[in-house]
Amino acid sequence: MQLKFDFNNMMDGTLKEQGISEKELDAVKGIAKDAYAYFEKNRGTGWMGWSELPYNQAEIVGDIICTAAEVRANFKNFVVLGIGGSALGPMAVFNALCHLRYNELDPSKRGVRFYVEDNVDPERMYALLDVIDVKETMFNVITKSGATSETMSQYLIITDILKKKCGKDWAKHIIATTSESKGNLIKLAKKEGFKTYFIPDGVGGRFSELCPVGLLPAAVLGIDIVGLLRGAANMDKAANSSDIYKNAPLMAAALQYIAMEKKGKNISIMMPYADSLKLMADWYCQLWGESLGKAKDLDGNIAHKGQTPVKALGVTDQHSQVQLYTEGPYDKVITIIGVENFRKDMLIADGAEEFADVNFLCGHTMGELINTERRATEYALTRSGHMNRTIMLDSVNAESIGELLMFFMLETAYCGKMLNIDTFNQPGVEEGKNATYAMFDRKGYEAKKAELEAAPQKNERYII
Ligand code: PA5
Repeated sequence: MQLKFDFNNMMDGTLKEQGISEKELDAVKGIAKDAYAYFEKNRGTGWMGWSELPYNQAEIVGDIICTAAEVRANFKNFVVLGIGGSALGPMAVFNALCHLRYNELDPSKRGVRFYVEDNVDPERMYALLDVIDVKETMFNVITKSGATSETMSQYLIITDILKKKCGKDWAKHIIATTSESKGNLIKLAKKEGFKTYFIPDGVGGRFSELCPVGLLPAAVLGIDIVGLLRGAANMDKAANSSDIYKNAPLMAAALQYIAMEKKGKNISIMMPYADSLKLMADWYCQLWGESLGKAKDLDGNIAHKGQTPVKALGVTDQHSQVQLYTEGPYDKVITIIGVENFRKDMLIADGAEEFADVNFLCGHTMGELINTERRATEYALTRSGHMNRTIMLDSVNAESIGELLMFFMLETAYCGKMLNIDTFNQPGVEEGKNATYAMFDRKGYEAKKAELEAAPQKNERYII
């Protein structure tokens, strides 16, 4: 295993009265055990289909690798059209495992340029079209439901342009990743003859990075997707105990459960100390927020569970949010992700001998500096009594990223069960989607439109 989970700074031994005691951990061992048993009993079934992705995709992985090679040979750009769980994973893995200035590299040093369009801001669509030639571009339309307004509007805009610019071959510029049995995209794919990959039924959007949603873009980028899946399998196999001290994601879930339910920690900050993991925080925010933020529990009681996820970046945010983390309210858990060995390091050169307060840096490396600052932040947070925990990766590579993705998915699934909520639905998101449909006069949403029209009007006095 390349990932280590250090939760010392959650415990009362270091945090004193703000910390969690072993007695408190003992008190939740039972529900943690139940959450583990529930997960094991249901793995691979219902919405837990994602748990088997590291093991059941040998054939599809082979097909994806062939398609990726064809894309690299025939196109200059690869554009993902998708949103939420159909975009954040591909972005996080790209950011983690490709050059940090990938698209700007000389073409001889990279493969196809890569873009993920996860918004419907018209200026952004224009900006994309200013920098790509659609004739040289493969578009990967990713939507599990095949109905998401944002993605389907992008699809319509792009196919219209492709038809005009590429003529009869336009459909060769689209790969559809969607549900095999539901939604409009699969129907369109069949009609137009798009190459298609399927998102398995039991794999929800935010748990889909390890299926073709994430594997195809990663393979196109030359990322070792077999290594990614191997890392995920390693984490899954390591989490094979109902004892919280032997199962890191289960311990992580138990600690967050206590933090939320007993200690009033309503905020979960994800703070990687590596630019390559910056977008992993975005991916985590969706996973944690959309999975755990629920109005009702599984018994139908009003519960309003969840912890607000916040993304931060070390060391950048040491000069911004860390003031609040260190001295603000005791309402948060800060998860730091550290990297032991950076893929490249840089010596801080001599040149300031006469200035002692600069010269102390000379002869050290940037890797040493970022890791020292990480440890210093952990110390400052702990000294001020703010709960923090550290996930250390030996280095950032396909396997360690697979481990990290699986760690957070397992933690989320365990924690959702401990909170007694439905981890895998998103009724709050659906409500917003339905209101949009009603405002656009979509057929079948007349009642919703009437409901919207009956809602209290805005008071002009409050708009200045
Ligand atoms: O996690 C989820 O289910 C959501 O965030 C979806 O991924 C998001 O709404 C996009 O849905 P779809 O893939 O159906 O377009």
